[in-house]
Amino acid sequence: MSLILVLNGPNLNRLGLRQPEIYGAETLDQIIGRLHARAEALGLTLDARQSNHEGHLVDWLHEAADRGALAVLLNAGAFTHTSVALRDAILSIPTPVIEVHLSNPAARESFRHRSHISPVARGVIQGFGALSYMLALDAAAALGQEGGQ
Ligand code: DQA
Repeated sequence: MSLILVLNGPNLNRLGLRQPEIYGAETLDQIIGRLHARAEALGLTLDARQSNHEGHLVDWLHEAADRGALAVLLNAGAFTHTSVALRDAILSIPTPVIEVHLSNPAARESFRHRSHISPVARGVIQGFGALSYMLALDAAAALGQEGGQ
C-alpha cells in the first residue's frame, strides 16, 4: 500500500492551545485522526510525526525516500522560513514533498513571506486551516495515480 509521511515541525504539538484565532481549535492529534480516515478511504498508509527539532525532520525526509514513500506532506512550521538544511534534505531525495500550512504565511508578517521550502517543493497548500492537510493528501493521492511526479 502506498505510504505517505506527514511531517510536522516546531510548536505544532501545541495546536488547539496555540493562537487558535490563527491555527484553529483542533489539536494535531485530531487533525491527524481525520487525515488517517481519509487516507484509508484513498487506500493510502499514513505515517504522521511531529518534532520540535530540525534534525529529526531532516532524518525523516531521508527515511521517506529510503522507504519508497509516495509523497511527504511537510508542515515545517517556523523552520520553513529559516532552514537551509530542510531545503537541502528535500533536494537530496526523489520523493515529492508537498508543503502545507494551516495559515497563509503570505498574508502574515513579512518574515513569513520567504519559504526555503517552496522553491523545492512539488507544490504548496496553505491558508485553509486543517483542510490544508486534507487537500494535500488528495494531491498526493492524485500524484500517485498519475504515476508519481
Ligand atoms: C505554519 C506557519 C508558520 O509561519 C508558523 O511558524 C507555524 C505554522 C502554519 O501551519 O500556518 O509554526 O507553518
